[in-house]
Amino acid sequence: MKKVRKAVIPAAGWGTRFLLVTKAVPKEMLPIVDRPVIHYVVEEAVQAGIEEIVIVTARHKRAIEDYFDRFFELEQRLLQAGKTEECAQVQRLSEMARLVYVRQPEALGNGHAVLCARHVIGDEPFLVLWGDDFIHAAPLRARQLLDVYEELGGSVLSLMRFGPEGIARAAMATVQPLRDNVYRVLSLIEKPSPEQIVSDLAAVSGWLLTPGIFPVLETIAPGRGGEIWLPEAVSVLAQEEPVYGCEVRNAVFYDAGNRLNYLKANIELALRRDDLRDDLLAYLRQLLATFDTGDEVC
Ligand code: UTP
Repeated sequence: MKKVRKAVIPAAGWGTRFLLVTKAVPKEMLPIVDRPVIHYVVEEAVQAGIEEIVIVTARHKRAIEDYFDRFFELEQRLLQAGKTEECAQVQRLSEMARLVYVRQPEALGNGHAVLCARHVIGDEPFLVLWGDDFIHAAPLRARQLLDVYEELGGSVLSLMRFGPEGIARAAMATVQPLRDNVYRVLSLIEKPSPEQIVSDLAAVSGWLLTPGIFPVLETIAPGRGGEIWLPEAVSVLAQEEPVYGCEVRNAVFYDAGNRLNYLKANIELALRRDDLRDDLLAYLRQLLATFDTGDEVC
């Protein structure tokens, strides 16, 4: 069985659900507290032992490359100002992972973005993580997928149970249970209509895929919006070879591609930080009290 050494992070989309800011700032670069969303995504891949990460970018996404690059002038300034810890943090960032950048010339869909990385991935299994959402789980979500892969082989999808509102917006899986949290995935349907809903298991970011996905991506007809969607290609792959689903244990899903979830992620991760928790809690309590009495200031 081949080792999973590489990951692809598609980050070349338009982010139209997050306009206006995405006109000038990639949604993958929106901050969750004090680091961009894509930082958390790269962190998971690194923690899972991934050796090389391919980030798929586009013309308007240069900020991503700058973020992970060295910045000598800044480092010098920090050192001169005696801010050695800040300087070390900035340096560590550029050493975080071995990154390869690939351009997607046109935003033809998240599946097409994965196809753009084919020549770097080659004939190996690999991980796909979206650039605009991440999961905190114990054990690490990527580790949970790798465990299933190492046991069964084949592709492994991250599954989470969604409520009715989420189901209408996600790629929902038809599955056959294998054992506790592991399933055989029979098909995926993106944004199902009410009569198409057969389960509450959504395939979220975090796809461990065999290279068998590439010929499918190359030949599949464009779907909704004229785009090539990864879930549709994975659904075809499931007819050709085993695709498994791992319902991620102890997981919290943070989605920065959507305004409300983005705000929730910021509040939640800030509340988990020792340096912010107490002051933020006090502020939120005060704010809630004001809103409850209807005295909010305009
Ligand atoms: P999304 O489908 O959520 O991104 O893809 P989007 O198209 O930017 O979103 P909206 O609907 O316009 O708001 C998930 C990931 O795939 C990337 C995105 O950048 C995001 O990180 N993506 C999407 C690409 O790399 N290329 C594409 O053509 C589309």
